[in-house]
Amino acid sequence: MLITRGLQPIFVKNSDLYTYTMSQADFSPAAERNKQPILEVLRQMLPERGSALEIASGTGQHVIWFAAHLPRWTWQPTDAQPGALSVIAQRVAQQGLTQVRTPLLVDVMAPRWLAEDAQFDLIFCANMLHISPWASCAALMRGSAWHLAPGGLLVTYGPYLEDEVPTAAGNLAFDQSLRAQNPDWGIRRREEVAQEATRAGLQLTARHAMPANNLLLVWTRESESDPK
Ligand SMILES: C[S@@+](CC[C@H](N)C(=O)[O-])C[C@H]1O[C@@H](n2cnc3c(N)ncnc32)[C@H](O)[C@@H]1O
Repeated sequence: MLITRGLQPIFVKNSDLYTYTMSQADFSPAAERNKQPILEVLRQMLPERGSALEIASGTGQHVIWFAAHLPRWTWQPTDAQPGALSVIAQRVAQQGLTQVRTPLLVDVMAPRWLAEDAQFDLIFCANMLHISPWASCAALMRGSAWHLAPGGLLVTYGPYLEDEVPTAAGNLAFDQSLRAQNPDWGIRRREEVAQEATRAGLQLTARHAMPANNLLLVWTRESESDPK
């Protein structure tokens, strides 16, 4: 098991964030629906113990579910919005989950996320890429390549467009509604996400089709690449 060290954020840049009010933020029906299907895939691929960093934790519903069901993992939730951190902390406290660390402010666009030597066996990021500017994809890949321990996995979850797969009507409508809200948002093309991953030294090693036309994608470090 790898231990994370010195989990202080270096600084946080105020980028073009998904904004929500506290009343909307404290519960996500989608997270409630997808947490169990995601957990089932994580269970198949993860060892019994390890350390996990969650990027864009949002309401914290995922992290508390995963921590409760993978109790030998330690979890570090983060989000770029200060308001999200207190919601996550409240949820963690309500569940009495001692293996979840204090939520930290991390914006993937910041040049450094955490202490340089912080390493994790898993980095998990759900539903951020389509609700942030495209540049956040490269930033997620670069930061993940930096903070993944040898043999570690980056898991991204959410809707994607794919070259060889017809897009579901629901995803097309969702994409249009995202772009109408903010022209910098939108569902990302899986092949373009993979190009950014390759630039950062990561490669796509598994693709899981998930309910409601979502994908769970697993990214690993290319064997010779070392971002340090
Ligand atoms: C739709 S919510 C998803 C929350 C949670 N992961 C889920 O699946 O329910 C998108 C989240 O991405 C976060 N976010 C947006 N831009 C970000 C950035 N540049 N760095 C880190 N988090 C970001 C938002 O603050 C928000 O919590």
